[in-house]
Amino acid sequence: MVALSDENFTARAEHLREIAEESIGALSGDRCLMVGSGTGHNTIEFGRSYEEVYALDVVERDFPAIVDHAILADGTRLPYDDGTFDLSCAISVVEHVLPPENRYLLVEEMVRCTKPGGYVFFQIPNGRFPLELHTGLPLIHWLPGGKEFAIKQGYTTLEQVHIPSRKALTKWVADTGAEVLVSRGFTYPSDTIPKYHAVYDALKAVGLFQVFPFGNVVIGKVPEQ
Ligand SMILES: C[S@@+](CC[C@H](N)C(=O)[O-])C[C@H]1O[C@@H](n2cnc3c(N)ncnc32)[C@H](O)[C@@H]1O
Repeated sequence: MVALSDENFTARAEHLREIAEESIGALSGDRCLMVGSGTGHNTIEFGRSYEEVYALDVVERDFPAIVDHAILADGTRLPYDDGTFDLSCAISVVEHVLPPENRYLLVEEMVRCTKPGGYVFFQIPNGRFPLELHTGLPLIHWLPGGKEFAIKQGYTTLEQVHIPSRKALTKWVADTGAEVLVSRGFTYPSDTIPKYHAVYDALKAVGLFQVFPFGNVVIGKVPEQ
């Protein structure tokens, strides 16, 4: 797969922030939590509007300097009190939670740790996108047994990835008692991809990404008490 540049990652993070702000309004508050923060562009882009940035990952990571409180922890068992954060985000994380049966727990824990009236933000890839986004293989995941075949061919990262549908993720958020504000597909703008911009723009112009969005976003609001 073609590697993304720093600029591509930053532009993607900005796009996700814009999606969040369309429904939440300008991001601001005391504390935000980035679950499965990785090393960071989304953490920087979302975190910069909060007084304190908390980040955690289940794997040892070099968190960006914007993070005030970093820990090694599992997002399905968050070590925070109820109602701690104004915003809790999991960006490209839910599909990596293992075992996959625990994905709902991650959602539930994030809602628990978010303040009444606060927000949870989830982004996942679209498991029906024509390119399998973790390997770059076209259409393989559409074929019955295709994922297992790809794993046997050496694409072992697929063993660790279990992408829920948007419908499933939306239901998980609603099942926690949060109000679902947004549940929709999205496609990154052209400046977020490393090359082939003309092809990308042409596919976008003919509406391919309306049918097969790149990813999905679900935003929930934790009920006021
Ligand atoms: C694809 S990366 C995304 C990183 C970052 N959120 C971003 O947007 O660039 C997925 C991250 O989720 C982390 N992760 C997977 N399962 C987790 C869990 N149960 N709790 C916390 N982090 C987890 C992984 O270690 C990895 O850093």
